[in-house]
Amino acid sequence: MRILVTGGAGFIGSNFIRYMLARHPDYQIINLDKLTYSGNLENLSDIHTRKSEVVNRKPTHNSQLTSLSYRFIKGDICDTKLVNGLVKDGIDVIVNFAAESHVDRSIMDAGVFINTNVLGAHVLLEAAKKHPVKKFIQISTDEVYGSLGSDGYFTENTLIAPNSPYSASKASADLLVRAYHHTYNLPVIITRSSNNYGPYQFPEKVIPLFITNALADVPLPLYGNGLNIRDWLYVEDHCRAIDLVIEKGKEGEVYNIGGNCEKTNLEITKTILKRLGKPEGLIKYVRDRPGHDRRYAIDSTKIQRELGWSPRYTFEDRIDKTIEWYIENESWWKKIKSGEYQEYYDKMYGESRES
Ligand code: NAD
Ligand code: DAU
Repeated sequence: MRILVTGGAGFIGSNFIRYMLARHPDYQIINLDKLTYSGNLENLSDIHTRKSEVVNRKPTHNSQLTSLSYRFIKGDICDTKLVNGLVKDGIDVIVNFAAESHVDRSIMDAGVFINTNVLGAHVLLEAAKKHPVKKFIQISTDEVYGSLGSDGYFTENTLIAPNSPYSASKASADLLVRAYHHTYNLPVIITRSSNNYGPYQFPEKVIPLFITNALADVPLPLYGNGLNIRDWLYVEDHCRAIDLVIEKGKEGEVYNIGGNCEKTNLEITKTILKRLGKPEGLIKYVRDRPGHDRRYAIDSTKIQRELGWSPRYTFEDRIDKTIEWYIENESWWKKIKSGEYQEYYDKMYGESRES
């Protein structure tokens, strides 16, 4: 099986490539990534090292290495010529992770979100129309459904009602993907997952931001009253779900993927501080995110019933593993935080954000 993974140098994409190469050593993976601010080849350094060992034919203790089939291509999913060339070469499955993924950045500047998330998806769809693939998997998000009140869950039949420029761009792509199925019979599947956490997540998202701030004794900027709710999913559980969707998912369908793990942001913040032995005095309430969605909660019954998936990991166990990972990989996040990140951070969390 030849899989074109887009955005494979980001958080979920890099975890997915590692997961797939370990479970399916016979698969070939081509990773197309533009390496934007959140794309980082260090997220795949183990795989790139193994790959160069194979290419250089160095003797190795691991016989599986001889069959490692992975290729990285730096490029933009909006580049029609490049994308067409890759898909024409013979691709069985496209998994589209490539996106601008941060809600706060979309509030500051929506343009690039429309470009990559909508126009980029269109370029991929057109390529798949010209050079047929067996499956086109669009990695979407529960945010396309908008916000829940204090009860109820998002099902695949919930009407989409995106509230941020980010979620509107993802919803737009979903609609295009759906239309390419109905109009051109393209074998598409859309997955909509809840909030992921785990290793290699860019420290702008709340969990890695708060872990790394707490480790550095820097205040944790909690939006509004801290009572907004997210449904947390360990990234490896998400990767396993996508693997199942590739193998057994039905064309034209949407699958919700949730962690069944609702937490307020305040609970998450207190958990991180407690696990790190840091004082709650580090919490700093700041001005709320404009249009801040109140609550996300996913009903994953469909993927459980049809594909036999359910989350394997508990939050209690995996948040500890995640915290350990950030402790052990200080150089990874310190390097990110010392670059142009600081400019973003000052703009986001500077004096104008004080509540
Ligand atoms: P991320 O920001 O960590 O990674 C995005 C990757 O896409 C980066 O490697 C970046 O370089 C690449 N990219 C961006 N623009 C590109 C372009 N024009 N061409 C090629 N590559 C490009 O994001 P993530 O958190 O790993 O999210 C991956 C996908 O999963 C996104 O589509 C996102 O909407 C979706 N998703 C994320 C979550 C979550 O909790 N993180 C939950 C549900 C869905
Ligand atoms: O639900 C899936 C979505 O989850 C994905 O589609 C997005 O790509 C991903 O970024 C994530 O979106 P959120 O906006 O939910 O994630 P974020 O980590 O930015 O914020 C989680 C919650 O924490 C949210 O209620 C806002 C709050 N928050 C966030 C930051 C960055 C804070 O209180 N302070 C912060 O500094």
